[in-house]
Amino acid sequence: MTDWTTSPQVERILSAYPDKKSAVMPLLYVAMTEYGYLTDEAIQKVARLVGMTSVQVSSVATFYTMYKRQPVGTYLVSVCTSISCGLLGAKGVLDSIADEAGVPPGETDDAGQVSVEHVECIGACGGAPALQVNYELIEGVTPDQGRALVQWLRSATPPLINGDEMQALFGGQRSFDWGPPDPTGAVGPVPALEGLGSTGEAP
Ligand code: FES
Repeated sequence: MTDWTTSPQVERILSAYPDKKSAVMPLLYVAMTEYGYLTDEAIQKVARLVGMTSVQVSSVATFYTMYKRQPVGTYLVSVCTSISCGLLGAKGVLDSIADEAGVPPGETDDAGQVSVEHVECIGACGGAPALQVNYELIEGVTPDQGRALVQWLRSATPPLINGDEMQALFGGQRSFDWGPPDPTGAVGPVPALEGLGSTGEAP
């Protein structure tokens, strides 16, 4: 692994803030893309970059659930179980996905391919039950569609996770169906953010 702490991207992030401590969250994001999760080494390196202690950086990383301190699979399936999704059958969706993946929520399969978790509201209540794969959204999912989604992830092993593609294959009712097509998607275990170089475009 090259030394990511001296990359132009890290330099750019650090120079964007008058106080280096303010760069802690985007740098944790970059570290996630490098390691796949926030290892102790990643925490220490971010701490050195921003002039904080490892404990202080760790306290940030553990407060936000999207920063992972344990390895996650290539595909992180996050099923919303908050009130709107819960009322419309999210428990059944989560159960079928966990059953197909062969792991309970919060865990990763032995192959390191699929992780399953339940999450709080992901802002798609109008399309409940909703879930995300690598933070790309699918709405109106049934238990059978959730099961088929896991099978597809394992057989197709898509290098890019694109919400529109998954919605067409496995989704149902959407919150808004008038949005423009979005060919971009996630290429890693972090939300796709163009400014942080973690997006890809569907072929
Ligand atoms: S309650 Fe599930 S997206 Fe809001």
